[in-house]
Amino acid sequence: MKLLVTGGAGYVGSVTSRLLLDAGHEVVVLDNLRTGFRESVAPDATFVEADIADAAQVLTPEAGFDAVLHFAGLIAAGESMAKPELYWHENVVKSLALLDAIRAAGVPRVIFSSTAAVYGNPVELPISENAAKAPTSTYGSTKLTFDLALTSETFAHNLAAVSLRYFNVAGAYIADGYEIGERHDPETHLIPITLQAAAGKRDKLQLFGDDYPTVDGTCVRDYIHVEDLARAHLLALEAATPGEHKIYNLGNGNGFSNLQVVEAAREVTGAAIPVETAPRRDGDPATLVAASDRARTELGWVPQKNTLQAMIGDAWTFYRKHVA
Ligand SMILES: NC(=O)c1ccc[n+]([C@@H]2O[C@H](COP(=O)([O-])OP(=O)(O)OC[C@H]3O[C@@H](n4cnc5c(N)ncnc54)[C@H](O)[C@@H]3O)[C@@H](O)[C@H]2O)c1
Repeated sequence: MKLLVTGGAGYVGSVTSRLLLDAGHEVVVLDNLRTGFRESVAPDATFVEADIADAAQVLTPEAGFDAVLHFAGLIAAGESMAKPELYWHENVVKSLALLDAIRAAGVPRVIFSSTAAVYGNPVELPISENAAKAPTSTYGSTKLTFDLALTSETFAHNLAAVSLRYFNVAGAYIADGYEIGERHDPETHLIPITLQAAAGKRDKLQLFGDDYPTVDGTCVRDYIHVEDLARAHLLALEAATPGEHKIYNLGNGNGFSNLQVVEAAREVTGAAIPVETAPRRDGDPATLVAASDRARTELGWVPQKNTLQAMIGDAWTFYRKHVA
């Protein structure tokens, strides 16, 4: 297929581009490099440095794209609470402009990077796709809004849409001479922050709250290896069906506590990683774990790299060579 990958200079988009190219697809990456890196773009992809708001320049009817994989967006929940207008504009207004371009060009399929943040505080665990959607951040609200826009689009215009709701993405793609990983700045994700502490870039790691009703009192989250996540996009492309908006959670199904992450990082890196317990943060649920049975059953998706050791090991390989 001929594919447009928005955000293909970012973490998940660059790893997915690699797998799409290796599977024989033609990939055009569209990215404004706001948080992405030119060197992360797959060397065998065509790169267009542009904003998704201007996607119509690339997504012409003549260009003959078979699908758009839409990764581009702003992703920091904390920042979205301080600058909501930025998130509504970047994640919703611009994504709707992209959707207009998709419709005008007659592109038949869209795969969208949605998020666990659309669910907010879980009412039941594990969280299924049918759970109540009550985002607790502007970030989550913006992603849910575009999910809803996709649903309408499928009914009205026969689009084939798939939303993939990622839980906590971790690890790096280390294979065939490629090393592609996570470089968010500022970093807000636990595993890379833990690796910063392991590398001596921070004196200590702060864990927010140690009195949650979990295995060791620290928050429990569902981590999924970025390579497993990327593979789900290839399966979603095959499963996309005209007139339907399919939605899949992508998680491991196993939660790991913050302390378990630190222990695994100590094991992988051999570093002491000093930890300080800080007060709970507002809005942090004790446990967020996905029910991903639908992706397993309907897409045939089977995550391969489920252990913290695999995720942290690959992240550490990438971090030492490309970030530290
Ligand atoms: N990383 C995670 O843990 C996680 C979890 C759930 C959902 N997601 C979703 O996955 C997607 C990718 O996340 P990521 O971690 O790779 O983020 P990232 O910041 O590494 O990548 C985002 C990319 O989009 C580009 N971009 C942003 N706004 C753009 C615009 N207006 N026009 C063109 N390009 C633009 C950035 O330059 C960057 O390359 C996001 O949509 C995010 O909401 C990520």
